[in-house]
Amino acid sequence: MIRLGVNIDHVATVRNARGEAFPEPLAAAHAAILGGADQITVHLREDRRHIRDADVELIASGLAIDLNLEMACTEEMVAKATAIKPQHVCLVPERREEITTEGGLDVAGNRDAVASTIQGVKAAGCSVSLFIDPDEAAVLAANDVGADAIEIHTGRYASAKSPAAIVREFLAIRQAATTAKQLGIRVHAGHGLDYRNVWRVAALPEIEELNIGFAIISRALFTGLSAAVRQMRDEMLRAREMAGQDL
Ligand code: PXP
Repeated sequence: MIRLGVNIDHVATVRNARGEAFPEPLAAAHAAILGGADQITVHLREDRRHIRDADVELIASGLAIDLNLEMACTEEMVAKATAIKPQHVCLVPERREEITTEGGLDVAGNRDAVASTIQGVKAAGCSVSLFIDPDEAAVLAANDVGADAIEIHTGRYASAKSPAAIVREFLAIRQAATTAKQLGIRVHAGHGLDYRNVWRVAALPEIEELNIGFAIISRALFTGLSAAVRQMRDEMLRAREMAGQDL
């Protein structure tokens, strides 16, 4: 099976744009569950530009499904995870000036910080994934530092324009997924996935989980969030059913 984690950061972005108390991320989480979300994913950024501490606390205590907390490798965030105890933590690189998470974590270049963050959040009982580019060395480094899972950054695949570039980026994802599976670490993927490009990635049998936000929340403006989540799940499951057939 393949799980869908729904990233609801953008609901908080809309709320914060008006300085109102709504739309509430917790309400979005419930709507996503109605649509079939397997987990809720939120990114608590250093600048709190969308999700805030109180959102994570409410979602962690009010949900029947797992919470996946995306966070940077900082002591502040380890303390948050220790207090909130989400089921899963995904470690991501963070730069203040970026609009969204632009690249994967440089695990080898920040080995000590990543390793000690992993230790800290594991001590709180969370499983840990590392958000990395689809790159062999990064997969090996993630395994070395003791990650339970990798989340492959699919942004380059999603933004590739030519058919050749799409295939090249997809093959990099497939190779990274295969390597991780051989090493015995779980494989997730996400970033930039939408209703048109999800199928190749969802069809890969090594991938157990996709985390998708922007495309679902954007579609939800027109269809409603539960239906938007259900449609994404249908695409993912169809890709699995068709896997192995000529597409
Ligand atoms: N996974 C991670 C680690 C992310 O940082 C993001 C973006 O917040 C996503 C998945 C979801 O990306 P998108 O919003 O483009 O679907």
